[in-house]
Amino acid sequence: MQDLLFFKEALESALPNHLQTAQPKGLYAPMDYILTLGGKRLRPALTLLTCDFFGGDYKKALPAALAVELFHNFSLIHDDIMDEAPLRRGKETVHYKWNLNTGILSGDAMLILAYQYFEEYEAPLFRDLAKLFSKTAIEVCEGQQYDVDFETQEGVELDAYLRMIEYKTAVLLGAAMKMGAMVAGADEDSQNGIYEFGRNLGIAFQLQDDYLDAFGNPETFGKQVGGDIIANKKTYLYIMALEKGNEQRCAELRKLFENTTDTPSDQKVARVKELFLATGASSAIQGAIEEYTQKAFLSLSHVHLGHDKKEKLRNLGASLMNRSV
Ligand code: IPE
Ligand code: IPE
Ligand code: MG
Ligand code: MG
Ligand code: MG
Repeated sequence: MQDLLFFKEALESALPNHLQTAQPKGLYAPMDYILTLGGKRLRPALTLLTCDFFGGDYKKALPAALAVELFHNFSLIHDDIMDEAPLRRGKETVHYKWNLNTGILSGDAMLILAYQYFEEYEAPLFRDLAKLFSKTAIEVCEGQQYDVDFETQEGVELDAYLRMIEYKTAVLLGAAMKMGAMVAGADEDSQNGIYEFGRNLGIAFQLQDDYLDAFGNPETFGKQVGGDIIANKKTYLYIMALEKGNEQRCAELRKLFENTTDTPSDQKVARVKELFLATGASSAIQGAIEEYTQKAFLSLSHVHLGHDKKEKLRNLGASLMNRSV
């Protein structure tokens, strides 16, 4: 039984290495660029670890893990276009370094490369993996559309926000883990339980991402701190600030998110962060991260794994809560 770091390294060494020199360069160099910028490799490492935990050979899960990581990186290229983000993993985003068309086409082709990895599996596993992957990919697109819709929508309800982050982020963590269980041939209850574990952990993960987007350390975060505030994203912080704040603070926050004043963006970010703190929204998000991590732990009751492995999964969930990147 190995740990997450081992599987992260196993994934690193299996990443495609022909992209740097592949032709046409304009299509493949951006893929190589984003993939070699690193990242936590959390999702594919979870695929490999889950396969191993259910008694499978993790090497058999490598194509599925690579599909998950390529899909994730494709979604980041397009997400950065949609969010007009300048920074990713501490470096320029693909569309800043190249241009919009490059980001669109390299992203599209990367999604196709991701699918090709499933060709390494025989039926019926091939069909089952591809089916879960397609369902997940469509949900991610739905989540991304809600995320963008909410930028200009007033009064986003907490439920709608939670569904949005479930789709844009959490289902991929659930699917990444379930694929590992499928490759290992785990029983159905375990497959569904581990999916729920990953999904709940994914909600906690996105809540933490929202928190770090405002309060992360710009030196280490790797993305533009305050980017969600600049883009008027209706995150948990914003929704809770409006729920918990007094009338005056709510009115000020709404005004800042309407972009009707000519407040420079650095001043807007600083003031919104003060409001998130003063209204108690920033402590509320910490509570929600804890809550969804606990929900993930409860999902393990349906999973047929020994105590030691469940304990490792709980430790993993707890360590994700304290991440700063
Ligand atoms: C970023 O994911 C996108 C979200 C769903 C929050 P990660 O935080 O896993 O990004 P990398 O792969 O480690 O850079
Ligand atoms: C991204 O959510 C989710 C997907 C990429 C599908 P965010 O927009 O919050 O991710 P970051 O913060 O840019 O990594
Ligand atoms: Mg983004
Ligand atoms: Mg986004
Ligand atoms: Mg974010």
